[in-house]
Amino acid sequence: MAEHKVICWDCGAEIADPYENTCPRCGGLLTIDIDLDPVREMRPEDLRGTRMGVWRYAPFLPVDPAHKVSIQEGGTPLYETDAVAAELGVREAYVKFEGLNPTGSFKDRGMTVGVSRAKELGATTVGCASTGNTSASLAAYASKAGMRCAVFLPSGKVAAGKLAQALFFGAKVLSIDGNFDDALALARKMSEERRIYLLNSINPYRPEGQKSVLFEIMDQLDYGVPDRIVLPVGNAANIWAVYKALTELKEVGWIDRMPMLTGIQAEGSAPVARAFARGAKDFVPEEDPETVATAIRIGNPVSGRKALHAIYDTGGYAETVTDAEILAAQRLLGRKEGVCVEPASAASIAGLGKLREMGIVDRDEKVVCICTGNGLKDPDTIIENSPSPIRCGNTVADVERILSQP
Ligand SMILES: Cc1ncc(COP(=O)(O)O)c(C=O)c1O
Ligand SMILES: [Zn+2]
Repeated sequence: MAEHKVICWDCGAEIADPYENTCPRCGGLLTIDIDLDPVREMRPEDLRGTRMGVWRYAPFLPVDPAHKVSIQEGGTPLYETDAVAAELGVREAYVKFEGLNPTGSFKDRGMTVGVSRAKELGATTVGCASTGNTSASLAAYASKAGMRCAVFLPSGKVAAGKLAQALFFGAKVLSIDGNFDDALALARKMSEERRIYLLNSINPYRPEGQKSVLFEIMDQLDYGVPDRIVLPVGNAANIWAVYKALTELKEVGWIDRMPMLTGIQAEGSAPVARAFARGAKDFVPEEDPETVATAIRIGNPVSGRKALHAIYDTGGYAETVTDAEILAAQRLLGRKEGVCVEPASAASIAGLGKLREMGIVDRDEKVVCICTGNGLKDPDTIIENSPSPIRCGNTVADVERILSQP
């Protein structure tokens, strides 16, 4: 565990109350200042004796592993996706497949650290608003920790698999009349007025766990820094977490340059990409976000300003993709790589393709796309966009006739 302080990202004030989610002085976003001095003495090899996963990187984490609530999150594969590279026209393309986490998304990385922190504080009730994956993950970790859990979901807009998980793990599932942004506003109110421990990514302990995806990518590439990392952006914490991990690795001298962080949003839900297009440091919230990629259907991203900073500071980019481009990229991964991701995750591949066509991404680049969630989370979208099962009689001739068709 690292010595650390919770501070305001905007004014630098130190935050004492662990239930505070924004700065009481200026209303700014919180972050965690990690004391990296002990790591300066270390090399990446020193951490390789333990199982690959979030807790391998404990010297970069602000929670004592003695309070660890874990179901073996992280340690996901980094696929070298040659067919994607050939199709999109880049030298080297990799997919970090976060869909193989315990509950099927990258959220488990933040949740193991966030729920461990809740345990450290003696919290008995945890909660979050969610487009689906956060609730599935929190519900699982709360059940492991023996905590009460309430999840606030936008009614009717959560993929079936995610809803099933939250129900299955025993959370109180509250279906809120409104979108994700409305659900988050209510969850924040409950946290402020009733001291439910909030585990949305506005809680700075969540991104600390999510840093581990970058540590793993670097481990898996033997510290050969890629030119670019592409990821979908919703509430915008994950791109910030990856950036924070990069700055920490640079600070301890384990890397000497940063990849260009590239955030992709759906056209119907793109406050960060639109701010980037204007060269702005802040975004304008969008009232009625809409996209097939329901995980990133977020109009007022909590960490939007942090995401823009991460993108500008690494010389990266932000772009939008259409729902049709997202679904085509999802199909490409399925048909050419045998990888089943959910629509939000496919946005990274769709974005890479578009930026390559625009000439923003160079043919010579080595690119890592982070595919954040498992396709089985949202079977309805896959079934809707795939051919129907073929009716077949029960004779060999019936089968032969069908197989001989193109
Ligand atoms: C599958 C998936 N991809 C991407 C995101 C976006 O991540 P962030 O909100 O950290 O930008 C989410 C968030 O819910 C998600 O569930
Ligand atoms: Zn402040």
